[in-house]
Amino acid sequence: MAITKEEFRAALGRFASGVTVVTTKDDSGKLFGITVSAFCSVSLEPPLILACIEKRAGSHHAFQQSKAFVVNILREDQQAVSNHFASHLEDKFVNVEYDTGIGNLPVLRNCLANLECRLHDSYESGDHTIFIGQIEKATVSEENPLIYWHSKYRELKD
Ligand SMILES: Cc1cc2nc3c(=O)[nH]c(=O)nc-3n(C[C@H](O)[C@H](O)[C@H](O)COP(=O)(O)O)c2cc1C
Repeated sequence: MAITKEEFRAALGRFASGVTVVTTKDDSGKLFGITVSAFCSVSLEPPLILACIEKRAGSHHAFQQSKAFVVNILREDQQAVSNHFASHLEDKFVNVEYDTGIGNLPVLRNCLANLECRLHDSYESGDHTIFIGQIEKATVSEENPLIYWHSKYRELKD
């Protein structure tokens, strides 16, 4: 027998993760970005990562249309950025600082790391799509990460 949604959330909420904002654009050139914690490493050779995006998300079609995306890994002082990209604003890039990277996509400034990815594969799975990207460029900084655990933002305690 399958578990309930509440049991699923309670169990998966025990898994601590970092927080990313994944950005892309659709065929019309409109920019999209979504807060994603379902992100992980897949392969070293070639260098692959994955991000799971809900099919109902307003940005989902853009990830299907685009051949590239950028994973912006957030620093501990970027809770507001996470909440901003987890909202349903019409244009999430107003007053957001970014540079332009792979495929003219937005690379958010002041992040812990930015991974510019070429779309490698995608798989529909349940109510999400798994987008696999091959990293073409990675930039990193030495700050602390924003952490999400048990439905709350947390800070790393050394
Ligand atoms: C900390 C956090 C982690 C999230 N992780 C994911 C995720 O991994 N995948 C996903 O599809 N949505 C995730 N969400 C929810 C989306 O960010 C949210 O539904 C967003 O409003 C979708 O934006 P859109 O409809 O403009 O695409 C997360 C939200 C938060 C606050």
